[in-house]
Amino acid sequence: MKKLAIFSILALFVFACGESQSREDRLAKAFPEKAEAQKKDDGKGIGEITSVTLNNPLDAKMVENGKAIYELKCAACHKLTDQRVVGPGWAGLTDKRKPEWIMNMITNVEIMLEEDKVANDLLKECLVRMPNQNISITDARDILEFIYQNDLDFAASQGE
Ligand code: HEC
Repeated sequence: MKKLAIFSILALFVFACGESQSREDRLAKAFPEKAEAQKKDDGKGIGEITSVTLNNPLDAKMVENGKAIYELKCAACHKLTDQRVVGPGWAGLTDKRKPEWIMNMITNVEIMLEEDKVANDLLKECLVRMPNQNISITDARDILEFIYQNDLDFAASQGE
């Protein structure tokens, strides 16, 4: 009981001081492991996906399925060009992000928006939370294949 009281006082103290600190500092104090993980951010995002093996050439069947899901569940907010609608356009995505990051963004969006620096910055820019649509890992992998195909097509259309 005594310990609890001391802890409460300490907690009060920490929060009282928190006012003048940045959000990052407060988070780093409250969750040291997370802060550590963020420091050595490997660009793969946060979630189940730690390693993706890419296909070369791309798998046409996967591209086709990925495209169908895109049209149904993503096209309302994402264009295939580099133009932003609600969310960022997808052209150039595979140059900017690692495949693991893209798949974690699709399958673990809530956590990514909160804890991944890049995703969190996008949220601040777009001001709309991308919804979780319960995309399976298999479907997310097919969407990723389509995203790679889209980048090939987009580069070709730009005469690159
Ligand atoms: C209601 C609109 C909406 C829908 C539907 C949506 N997204 Fe998003 N998406 C966003 C927004 C907005 C962002 C930017 C982060 C944020 O603000 O949440 C984003 C970000 C992303 C990013 C990161 C883009 C970048 O430039 O790094 C990926 C990848 C992505 N979405 C994939 C998908 C996929 C795949 C689907 C369909 C299964 C989908 N999104 C459906 C709104 C949406």
